[in-house]
Amino acid sequence: MVHSTGTAGITQLIGNTPLLRIRMFEREFPRLEVYAKAEWFNPGGSVKDRAALSMIEEGERRGALTHDKTIIDSTSGNTGIAYAMVAAAKGYRVKLVMPANVSAERKALISAYGADIVYSDAGEGSDGAIRFVRDLVAADPNSYFYPDQYSNPANARAHYEGTAVEILQQTAGRVTHFIAGLGTTGTFVGTSRRLKEHDPSIRTIAVQPEDSFHGLEGLKHIPTAIIPKIWDPTLADEIWGCPTEPAYDLARAAARTEGLLVGHSSGAALWAVRRLAGTIDEGVVVTVFPDSGDRYLSTGLYGRK
Ligand SMILES: Cc1ncc(COP(=O)(O)O)c(C=O)c1O
Repeated sequence: MVHSTGTAGITQLIGNTPLLRIRMFEREFPRLEVYAKAEWFNPGGSVKDRAALSMIEEGERRGALTHDKTIIDSTSGNTGIAYAMVAAAKGYRVKLVMPANVSAERKALISAYGADIVYSDAGEGSDGAIRFVRDLVAADPNSYFYPDQYSNPANARAHYEGTAVEILQQTAGRVTHFIAGLGTTGTFVGTSRRLKEHDPSIRTIAVQPEDSFHGLEGLKHIPTAIIPKIWDPTLADEIWGCPTEPAYDLARAAARTEGLLVGHSSGAALWAVRRLAGTIDEGVVVTVFPDSGDRYLSTGLYGRK
């Protein structure tokens, strides 16, 4: 909540992101309304600000997080930036384990907030980072606060209490379909749970990469990954596997036709919107654009064509 004087701490600016109208499928599917939560409007630049703040504040409430502890977790990047920002604002130290091949922009951002980075084997991906952090915590459990974003219900709760409530307000309850990518699964699980409690007829579609070798940073191929404890497949009416190149094409199209510079996983969300559009006559489809394309400029997302 922004104070009436107009001043606010940075963590108070997390959430309440705009819901954007997406028009790129309108000509082909005129009876479909498509919207996306612009999550790069969060102060740390991604949807993960919500989860990081929720897990850190839950740790404070439980007394598990105190100022003599270092916050530690594994992250493919965005959660790390979010932890680093929230921890800096609250005066905590942070250590992050991430695969060595995450983008240069992400490493630079995390270092800029003063967090330490430990690199895990690039070839082992985000699961290698998870195993690495578990070993570090097991070796010295009293030094760390380990939120464990894959297992922490406060991750999904950020979306149950925030993202979903905002979507219901911003669509005046008209949402008929919800689409989100799966990483830790927090966004999909928390938002879908609340939407279905509100109206069980709302259809939910989870999007994962088509296979384990993919270029969709932030997303996980669940069948071949360490399955997040917070994952609840009963909340998904459909789970679709998205190919990498069509997702990149749609991310590029969003930049050029909508003025929306979004990341890989937003391209995957658009791929699922497009697929859904071919199967329904009308509806109010809401998805999530987790971060901005400026995080991926060095990866060639926008430079290939
Ligand atoms: C770019 C990007 N997209 C999507 C996701 C998936 O979000 P969640 O972890 O809530 O499933 C993440 C999370 O790490 C991400 O960084």
